[in-house]
Amino acid sequence: MPRISDRGFRMPASPIRKLAQYAEEAKQRGIDVLHLNIGQPDITTPKHAIDSIKNFSDPYISYSNSAGNLSLRKELVEYYKTNDIDISHKDILITTGGSEAICFAYYSILNYGDEVIVPEPFYSNYYGFTTETGARMIPVRSTIENGFALPEIEEFEKVLTPRTKAIMLCNPNNPTGYVYSRHELERIRDIVLENDLFLICDEVYREFCYDNDHYSVMNLSGIEDNVILVDSFSKRYNVCGIRIGALISRNKEVISTSLKFAQARLSPPSLGQIVAEALLKTPQEYLDKAFEEYKSRRDFVIHELNTIKGVYSPIPKGAFYSIVELPVDNAEKFCQWLLEEFEYKGTTVMLAPGNGFYTGKKLGERQVRLAYVLNKEKLALAVECLKKALEIYPGNLLK
Ligand SMILES: Cc1ncc(COP(=O)(O)O)c(C=O)c1O
Repeated sequence: MPRISDRGFRMPASPIRKLAQYAEEAKQRGIDVLHLNIGQPDITTPKHAIDSIKNFSDPYISYSNSAGNLSLRKELVEYYKTNDIDISHKDILITTGGSEAICFAYYSILNYGDEVIVPEPFYSNYYGFTTETGARMIPVRSTIENGFALPEIEEFEKVLTPRTKAIMLCNPNNPTGYVYSRHELERIRDIVLENDLFLICDEVYREFCYDNDHYSVMNLSGIEDNVILVDSFSKRYNVCGIRIGALISRNKEVISTSLKFAQARLSPPSLGQIVAEALLKTPQEYLDKAFEEYKSRRDFVIHELNTIKGVYSPIPKGAFYSIVELPVDNAEKFCQWLLEEFEYKGTTVMLAPGNGFYTGKKLGERQVRLAYVLNKEKLALAVECLKKALEIYPGNLLK
């Protein structure tokens, strides 16, 4: 049989989805699985956006411009203005989710063997996309002890090589929930400037910063041409399925190069762009309500988790995830056991094993990523399940 590619072989499976088959089997046995493994929230999408598809009356669904509809890009400029980000529609490419924006950024700036420095733990797909590009991801460790704050700048300097091309940040961070301060970002700015690097920042959770305001890398002065912003509608309005995101840069070469990749894939989703344009007319009240809901879920679930013996979670400052340390020898085995062998009140919990958010196999071995995307009633049941599960789990280190 012909062999698959080396790249395909190296491509990591997503830790967020790799246990899905066990969840399916649990459901077939009649067990209710609480999905805290994936960032798929239960908040209602604004109705007028859903209606915008119902009202679609064109005789056929055509391709759009490869860069995305001009009207959407112009509306987005206004959205960014209200978030203190001053850009032109020419700096924006509409992409198939933030995921494609990451790919286009990588394809446009990375040669085979180039290196991207990323604080770890990191959003696991960055690793997949780097592998896909043939580049290397170079981790700089942040630790649970200080809530996953930005590592010292010396740690970034230690891993710089002639192949270093970019630093990638996620702010607010998935999976840690950490929010980088303006001061931390200015330290990154200095290293970017000194070493002539690109700075890619994923700000898809911009609206969800619970304790401090968000500071965008687009406002770092002196590195305007080095910055590439990844954005998405998915989480902001809970429309993960419309597959609309954006790649934004004031660097004209980055935009014109990314546009060639955008042309090769023809166009971003046409129906998704109609929904996106409607979403930009959503009253601020919607985002305020979502913010309050996530904040109160965070306060509730993190407090409850920290009352379980041997369990520790720092308080995430943004997004809707937390890295949680468990008293188990191997969190991946525990996550699988939860799906295969455990139930409480006909229910179990699905979590994402922490090791998939690190480069080293051992790192994150006792950690899971938990997404507080379900309502508080379900979160309370999930915490109860976790507590009961740890009481009987044979691999509990505190036994
Ligand atoms: C940090 C981060 N960036 C990008 C994405 C990609 O999202 P989408 O492709 O739906 O925009 C996600 C999805 O979970 C994410 O958490």
